[in-house]
Amino acid sequence: MINIAIDGPSGAGKSTIAKIVAKTLGITYLDTGAMYRAVALHVINCGKNPSIEEDVKPLLNDVNISYIKVNDENQICLNGNNVSEDIRRHEISKYASEVSKIPAVRLFLVDMQRKIAQSTDVVLDGRDITSYVLPDAKYKFYLTAKDTERAKRRFEELKAKGQEVSYEQILADVRDRDFNDMNRDFAPLKKTDDSFEIDSTDMSLQQVVDTILNKVDEINKKSSLKDKTQQISQVKDINNSVSKQIKNNRKKVKHSWFYKGIANFARWVMGALWVTRIYFKDNFPKNSKAVVICNHYSALDPCVIISKLLGKNGKVVMKNEVTQNSFVANVAKELGGISVKRGEADVNAVKSILGALNKNQPVLIFPEGTRNKQNSKELLPFKQGVATFAIKAKAPIVPMLYYKKTGIFKRNKLMVGAPFWLDEFYDKKIGDVRDEATQVIFDKMQELRREIDILVEECKGSKKRYLRYKKNQSKELCANVSDGR
Ligand code: DC
Repeated sequence: MINIAIDGPSGAGKSTIAKIVAKTLGITYLDTGAMYRAVALHVINCGKNPSIEEDVKPLLNDVNISYIKVNDENQICLNGNNVSEDIRRHEISKYASEVSKIPAVRLFLVDMQRKIAQSTDVVLDGRDITSYVLPDAKYKFYLTAKDTERAKRRFEELKAKGQEVSYEQILADVRDRDFNDMNRDFAPLKKTDDSFEIDSTDMSLQQVVDTILNKVDEINKKSSLKDKTQQISQVKDINNSVSKQIKNNRKKVKHSWFYKGIANFARWVMGALWVTRIYFKDNFPKNSKAVVICNHYSALDPCVIISKLLGKNGKVVMKNEVTQNSFVANVAKELGGISVKRGEADVNAVKSILGALNKNQPVLIFPEGTRNKQNSKELLPFKQGVATFAIKAKAPIVPMLYYKKTGIFKRNKLMVGAPFWLDEFYDKKIGDVRDEATQVIFDKMQELRREIDILVEECKGSKKRYLRYKKNQSKELCANVSDGR
């Protein structure tokens, strides 16, 4: 079977391009995003909340997805009704992203997608086709474009359909969805190593289509040209160079396995020793660029975050005094540490931080720069590095806050806030806006302090009670507004 898999973030033009590629090759086109949208529509129609797993799961039994041909195009039906227009409503995009985080929904749809791909020549587009649905597909593409360009395209598309939305709102929604899609636990959006990446920001539709068709052609030629003797000599070459490399690297590998082992053990011990309850863990970015910030009371703060949140993809900025000893420095490196010399422009550290962000790694920075030795709730003044990195890398900032000082076996609480972007500063000279941007970040952290206080003190640490509290608060606010108060 011919299976062409195309993944990428929302608004990169996947569906338009995939449709043309399928038509050119005379095969079927399957829009897997439409399936998630159909599930979201069903959930909304049933009056349920698309982000609550317990609400959504039972409804899957009543979801029947089928297709009808209209003007030579497959259109999607939900329980027998053609919903291909309805699912394109702007708010459904957000709900689709919510339901797509639920593993039961993914398993349900992935099963359907795999069955279709097994029996049909098909171009599929989505978020997890190359990585999860069809990891062995012969033709794999990752289609992307700058978020501002994607938002512009979506805005124009919706405007043409007469839907009233602002560009700023669409851009915020695009970024929100990227964040959701890249950071969900199950089958997140990512570029696999064997996918061919196309950045369509400055390309026309036809150029992108041609690039895909040429690549398909190239892959076909390659696989038919390789005769057996070629393959054997390649295998020999590979064997030779691998054995050389093994010899050269043996020492290095031994060395790095040793520290890797220690780092894994340290992660485990740290996780076991510090009993910190983490609220809104979902806001934590695992697979996308983000500057993660946190207040700082104790040397144990990074340990909790490294062991419970950061994972192996994340980085943590630490002062270079910590890594003076070479053993500690090696372990810290394996734990994602980037050491920075304070009080001077440490070019290497800056390069490492921006490099990590550009490789879609979250980087943890303590913006106070030092520990709050008074253990007070007030934050110390922020250093300006966070603003600089977030603006330079156009990365979201994810604020986190400890309720109090962390200690061994001492119960503590940590709240992860919603990500925010400093996009109002992106086009300005960094030196002109650093102060203002730092103030924005500081205000966000103070807001989070108020929230964690409410959660711990008024709601006794119960997330359920806190969510109820917030709901009542917004109801009150609405009532006040409508009373003219
Ligand atoms: O491509 P789209 O905007 O129509 O997709 C709607 C949502 O569905 C999107 O937020 C991510 C999700 N999705 C997914 O998680 N996996 C896919 N294979 C396709 C879409």
